[in-house]
Amino acid sequence: MGRLTDKVAIITGAASGMGLAGAQIFAKEGAKVVMTDVTEDALERESAALKETGASVLALRLDVADDQNWTEVVEKTVAEFGKIDILVNNAGVHKPLGVLDTTEDDWNFVMNINAKGVWLGMKAVIPHLQKAGGGSIVNVSSIAAFLGGLQSDGGGMAYSASKGAVRSVSKHAAQAFAGDNIRVNTIHPGPIYTGLAKATGITKEQMGEVYGAGTPIPPHVGDPEDIGYGMLYLASDESKFVTGEELVIDGGSITH
Ligand SMILES: NC(=O)c1ccc[n+]([C@@H]2O[C@H](COP(=O)([O-])OP(=O)(O)OC[C@H]3O[C@@H](n4cnc5c(N)ncnc54)[C@H](O)[C@@H]3O)[C@@H](O)[C@H]2O)c1
Repeated sequence: MGRLTDKVAIITGAASGMGLAGAQIFAKEGAKVVMTDVTEDALERESAALKETGASVLALRLDVADDQNWTEVVEKTVAEFGKIDILVNNAGVHKPLGVLDTTEDDWNFVMNINAKGVWLGMKAVIPHLQKAGGGSIVNVSSIAAFLGGLQSDGGGMAYSASKGAVRSVSKHAAQAFAGDNIRVNTIHPGPIYTGLAKATGITKEQMGEVYGAGTPIPPHVGDPEDIGYGMLYLASDESKFVTGEELVIDGGSITH
């Protein structure tokens, strides 16, 4: 308790999966949490549930690929909570399409949300972190930034490209803003049982069987909280000397 006391955090894609787990963990640790997502009904439901625990929560619709929408969210956050300390760029989409079957629209859809969205978020928030005297940005990439194939990128070529971009722009920003005491780190999840998987109707056990020995720690698939705790470490002052780093949380997948 209290690892984020008085910190103000914006989390994207917070209506589901890892973003939601991060919002719940951050609130428990004393942060004021701005939960954002495009899926408004789930955002409404999950933010209301979190508020009922006594947490300070603001829920705002945000399409991360929309520059103007970012400006509005940042303005509303500062109006409500007075500052911003933490940004978690977590929202993401996937298309299981390879080099030959990806269309230009597929490429633009995935790249706009997963890669451009991370840049726009940093661009909108960094001036406020500078004003606050520093802060932490956590960008959610994937083990797809390192490896290709069904076990790591789910067969998504544009997805791999987007997650590689997240890794690269995070290193750039880590260098550029270290002098402002702004830290930028990435998290690289392996297979995690979240909204996307649930929507296909697969159970966690079945997903674990799919990944099997490729993800050696049983049950061969992770929970959203496994990533939420990584977000917590990188967002908190406990990681105050860590920047440009890659935190892999994947049950051992990339040890192969
Ligand atoms: N689940 C996995 O196995 C896995 C593995 C590696 C990386 N990731 C990454 O983790 C992050 C979180 O994914 P998740 O697994 O929790 O998925 P999820 O589908 O449960 O949650 C993603 C959220 O992002 C939101 N979103 C989609 N498009 C958006 C947009 N344009 N603007 C704002 N929000 C938008 C969705 O509405 C959803 O609530 C993503 O970046 C994903 O690529 C997931």
